[in-house]
Amino acid sequence: MPVSEENPNSPLEPAEGPAEHPDDPAAEGAAETPAETLTGNPAEKAAETRKSAARVPAAPPRILCVANQKGGVGKTTTAINLATALAAVGPRVLVIDLDPQGNASTGLGIPSAAREVGTYDVLLDGSAIDDAIMPTAVPNLSVMPATVHLLGAELELIDMERREFRLADALARHALGFDYILIDCPPALGLLTLNALVAADAVLVPLQCEFFALEGLSHLVKTIELIRAKFNPRLEIQGLVLTMYDKRNNLSDVVAADVRGYFGAKVYETVIPRNVRVSEAPSHGKPVLLYDLRCPGSQAYMSLASELLKREQTRAAA
Ligand SMILES: Nc1ncnc2c1ncn2[C@@H]1O[C@H](COP(=O)(O)OP(=O)(O)O)[C@@H](O)[C@H]1O
Ligand SMILES: [Mg+2]
Repeated sequence: MPVSEENPNSPLEPAEGPAEHPDDPAAEGAAETPAETLTGNPAEKAAETRKSAARVPAAPPRILCVANQKGGVGKTTTAINLATALAAVGPRVLVIDLDPQGNASTGLGIPSAAREVGTYDVLLDGSAIDDAIMPTAVPNLSVMPATVHLLGAELELIDMERREFRLADALARHALGFDYILIDCPPALGLLTLNALVAADAVLVPLQCEFFALEGLSHLVKTIELIRAKFNPRLEIQGLVLTMYDKRNNLSDVVAADVRGYFGAKVYETVIPRNVRVSEAPSHGKPVLLYDLRCPGSQAYMSLASELLKREQTRAAA
């Protein structure tokens, strides 16, 4: 498969075929290549998604939250496309849209008019998670959409019981038929993001390759430490991912080197290139992997998924 034309010197490597989930009970059913999985009849895929979401795996899902209090760094893009790339190689994946803007829901093909029950209802009204989950056109991938009500949630949560634990409690209430849950956070460190961090096993931090990439990061790291000490001792940083890398801009290399110097091996080797196909895909209600599987952005997200699964395997074996 071609390495990025826009970014031939990047460490991008296309995924080498289906990566394995450590204890993925559906692994034997995952013989298709991502390309085969991502093409075909959407109705069949939706039915398959509903069917697979109903299967309950032996292990509880790994919950990863995509967080950075800065807006526009690639959180939603990463949540959507990493989830798609993971689902394409076997694991059953749920994206929880925790941003009132609802971009992850739209980008996964769920327009606001189609959303009835969503994250708000689960967090604030005690709705069952099953009632809020919708299938997407990607087999194995479901979404809990954000409805407009989520706009008021930050304020409404303040006076609620166990306000930091609402999402964690909801996720713990029932066995869920997913191997991975990815939470797309809003661009703030308010109660919504706090709920995500308290519910999560690990955080994935997208960093845009621009001058102020590291700005505010110490605050995020401190918040993660605080949450670990106070609410959620298992919380760890899964990794940092450099996004919107532009090989024509020297600054991208400077920033990438800076971030690697600071966070070392925590930074994924995969770098997500700036790629117009990635930014076009959401307006078609599709992950970029469905919109243009061969473009550099899709290849990069497949490579990121493969790296993430390797880290997960190493962690599980430790
Ligand atoms: N790799 C990329 N190449 C080109 N555009 C991108 C890329 N990643 C994200 N974008 C665009 O940048 C904007 C911000 O990305 P988004 O994922 O919404 O950030 P966040 O969720 O952190 O606010 C969006 O318009 C998105 O389409
Ligand atoms: Mg976003």
